[in-house]
Amino acid sequence: MAAQSCEINGYHIPEGSTLLVNVWAIARDPDVWTEPTLKFRPERFLPGGEKAQVDVKGNDFEVIPFGAGRRICAGMSLGLRKVQLLTATLIHAFDWTLPDGQLPEKLNMDEAYGLTLQRAAPLMVYPRPRLEAHLYQA
Ligand code: HEM
Repeated sequence: MAAQSCEINGYHIPEGSTLLVNVWAIARDPDVWTEPTLKFRPERFLPGGEKAQVDVKGNDFEVIPFGAGRRICAGMSLGLRKVQLLTATLIHAFDWTLPDGQLPEKLNMDEAYGLTLQRAAPLMVYPRPRLEAHLYQA
């Protein structure tokens, strides 16, 4: 909330206004991203990619999934570890295939509109256990 009236980029912000940061638009700003489309190109962040040096921890404003500054996500470290652990566990425990001979590179990666990011077309996959059966018992 704006503690006092101010002007930002020519816009008058009255005192008491609630401001929402449009992280979606920032992450698709053509001034900072080449091909800022909905195309899924994770290699941007690999060594040699255009954004190999950026991290998601609030230091590089072009991609801030956890926010930035004093109100940055308080659970960022746990969140990052959980995502990594869950992904690694699923890959370690199962072989994954797509239905009907679909090719991974042809998957529909369109995004649906919403407050948080969702797939437009739900992901359908077949998991096949690849470890000893007793390891899947709770
Ligand atoms: C990948 C997982 C997560 C993502 C992407 C995420 C993202 C965010 C974002 C964008 C904010 C708002 C930051 C801002 O206002 O600038 C936030 C705030 C917050 N998050 Fe997370 N979060 C995640 C996981 C977690 C976890 C696991 C916890 C707790 C165990 C957590 C606790 C919080 C809290 C307490 C705030 C409020 C911080 C404040 O306003 O001072 N988050 N998170």
